[in-house]
Parts: sequence; C-alpha cells; structure tokens
Amino acid sequence: MQQKANIIYFTGTGNSARVCGVLGGVFEDAGYEVSVISIEDVKPDGVGEADLRVFAFPVYACSVPSVFIDWMRKLPRNNGAKAALISVFGSLDVNEKIPGYDGQALLQAKSLLEDKGFDVFFGDGTGYPFNVPVSGGVPDEEKSKAILEKADETIRNIGVRIVAGEKYFKKCSWFNEAWSKLFGLLYAAVGRRWIGKLYAADDSCVKCGLCIKSCPVHTINSKLGNIRWKWNCEGCQRCVNICPKKSINLTPARIIISLALSFMPWDSWIISLCNINAAVNESGGAAIFLRLGFWAAGFVGAALAADSVLFLLESTPGIGKLLRTGFMKKFARYTAPGFKPGKSYDNRKKS
Ligand SMILES: Cc1cc2nc3c(=O)[nH]c(=O)nc-3n(C[C@H](O)[C@H](O)[C@H](O)COP(=O)(O)O)c2cc1C
Ligand code: SF4
Ligand code: SF4
Repeated sequence: MQQKANIIYFTGTGNSARVCGVLGGVFEDAGYEVSVISIEDVKPDGVGEADLRVFAFPVYACSVPSVFIDWMRKLPRNNGAKAALISVFGSLDVNEKIPGYDGQALLQAKSLLEDKGFDVFFGDGTGYPFNVPVSGGVPDEEKSKAILEKADETIRNIGVRIVAGEKYFKKCSWFNEAWSKLFGLLYAAVGRRWIGKLYAADDSCVKCGLCIKSCPVHTINSKLGNIRWKWNCEGCQRCVNICPKKSINLTPARIIISLALSFMPWDSWIISLCNINAAVNESGGAAIFLRLGFWAAGFVGAALAADSVLFLLESTPGIGKLLRTGFMKKFARYTAPGFKPGKSYDNRKKS
C-alpha cells in the first residue's frame, strides 16, 4: 500500500510553505502520497492519519511561533507516530557563516510532540531569506534568489534523509538552550504583542483589507476609518510585507510612548497612592515580587489606556496623519516568490 506523508506548517511570509513544497516533491519521488497542510486551514483534530508527519515552522526569537505551539498542543495523542521537524530561520546573505540561528526551537517542538506521544526521529533546519524589514533590511531580490536556491537544495537533502529514516537531531548546547528559551519566553509573552502595538497604517492605505483578511491570528481590524492592531500579534511580518502600498510601518510616536511607559516607576506610584508603603516593606523577601506585580499591573493598565488614546488621536484629522507616519516606508519588503497569503500554499510543481 502507498505510504502517506503529512507535511504540516505555519508560515508568516511563505518560506516555511516553500519548504513544504520542496519536501513534498522529494517525498512524492520516493513514492509517498503527500498532503501539505497549513495550520490556518486545518484544525489539529482534522489532520488525517499518515505514516510520516513533518512539522515545518519559522523561527521567532530562537523559538517556535506561539500560534504553532497552541496548534500542536491541541493535537490528539499519536502513540509512536513518526515525526520530523524542520526549523526555517532567517538569512541575510548566501555567504553568511551563520545563516540565522534557531536556538532551542527544535528542542521545544520535540518536547511538545513527544508529550503527545510522537516518535520525533529527526530535527534540522536551514536559513531562508530574513523577513523583518525593520531590522535593517530584508535581502534584496538577487540575494534572496541565491539564498532560496541554496536553502531549497539543503531542504531536498533533508527530505532524502527523512525518507531514508535517518535518526538525527540538530544539537543545541545547554547554554544556548537556556538563553534562547528565556529569549523565546519574553518574546511570546511580551515582544510579539508589543510589535503589533507599534504599527500604524499611514495615509497611503487604500483600505483594500488585505492585511485584515490575511493576518493568521486575526488581530487586525478596521475602526474609525483606520487599521487597528489588537493585542495578539504574532509578529510574523505578513501584514507589513504584503501591503501593496507599504503603508504599514512602525511609528516613532508609538515607539517613544511605549518606551516611556516602560521606564515609569509604576510600583512606587501604586504603593504610595494606596498608602501601603509600610505593609510592602514589612513583607521581607516577598517585597520584590509585590513590587514586580504592582509594576506590571501599572504598566499594563497604562499601556491599554495609552493605546486607546493614541488610536483616537491617530484617527483625528491633521495630527492623525503625523502620528501614523512611520519610518519604514523606503525599506524593502519580502515574501517568498509566489506566496499567496491566507490560502493554503503548495508549490510542489514549482520546486
Ligand atoms: C518575530 C520574528 C523573529 C525572528 N527571530 C529569528 C531568530 O531568532 N533567528 C533567525 O535566524 N531568524 C529569525 N527570524 C527570521 C525568520 O525566522 C525567517 O525569515 C523565516 O525564514 C521566515 O519564515 P516564513 O516566511 O515561513 O515566515 C525572525 C522573524 C520574525 C518575524
Ligand atoms: S493592506 Fe495596506 S493598503 Fe490594504 S488595508 Fe492594509 S494597510 Fe491598507
Ligand atoms: S498583525 Fe501582522 S505581524 Fe501581527 S500576526 Fe497579524 S499579519 Fe502577522
């Protein structure tokens, strides 16, 4: 009987989808019946049975994207099912000594899937074009082409090794695992939400709705005639990169306000406002946690209020235009060639 392979992925800008296309071609050549499945289209309990499952994902802050973690956590138990992992990280130049870095991402996904009963026998990854325009630029067309060619070749080799049943897991030292885990936790808890709150669409926005329709976590909507980001951004960069007018930018106003809020002594203000200085000081070792809690509560409250006020001002004629003007307009954008956001994307024929 023909063996079945399910290749399951999340992608922000198409690189991980491209990986699935390349792998799918290799698996088909090896006689597998292949299904390429986007987690945006299929629920965890809707994935059919298969002899082999591959999970491919972009690396965010040396970790697995939160949206992919949540999806994997909801998978039904699969005792002993064979699984392979592919991390897709970011490269700026084909000649780079280190084409991006995935830290503990593969280990993180492995541990999650093993908890679900999978037999994770393989884990490796490679760098595809870096997709964060604000970081100082995504690779230009020529550089991207060279990176894509090399990365596709690496993925073809990985596909052959997976088909051959090679047992391999990319190493990550305990030190790199420790710091990259912390980095990933901070990004998942705060960083990704903060990123979404720094965006605004400037006056060039033609209200085409593409960003709203294609956000994988549905965190963009339209209010008071403007585009608004809610609090669940993944930071995937899809909206920024696909906007046909390059209207989506980080704005100085939002950056300055959020930095200012994070330097305020919220804990001291709350403690003196509530007149509980003595109680906090008497609590001994717990004082530091109390202070941290008060600081976080003050910061979150102020951030929520500031966001609402800022959005109202951004929607006001005159000053709104100024507040919504960002500094990334001239930065190049990147999506994998042929990537169509919001749709399951299978490039096997092109690979
Ligand atoms: C929020 C965010 C964080 C990232 N962190 C890393 C990282 O830690 N290491 C790395 O090499 N690339 C990092 N990248 C780059 C992406 O992993 C890389 O461009 C990847 O190929 C994108 O895949 P996709 O097109 O499937 O979304 C990051 C990208 C984003 C958007
Ligand atoms: S994709 Fe760009 S132009 Fe279209 S609605 Fe979003 S911000 Fe506006
Ligand atoms: S708001 Fe933009 S960056 Fe954030 S998850 Fe949605 S598409 Fe990705």
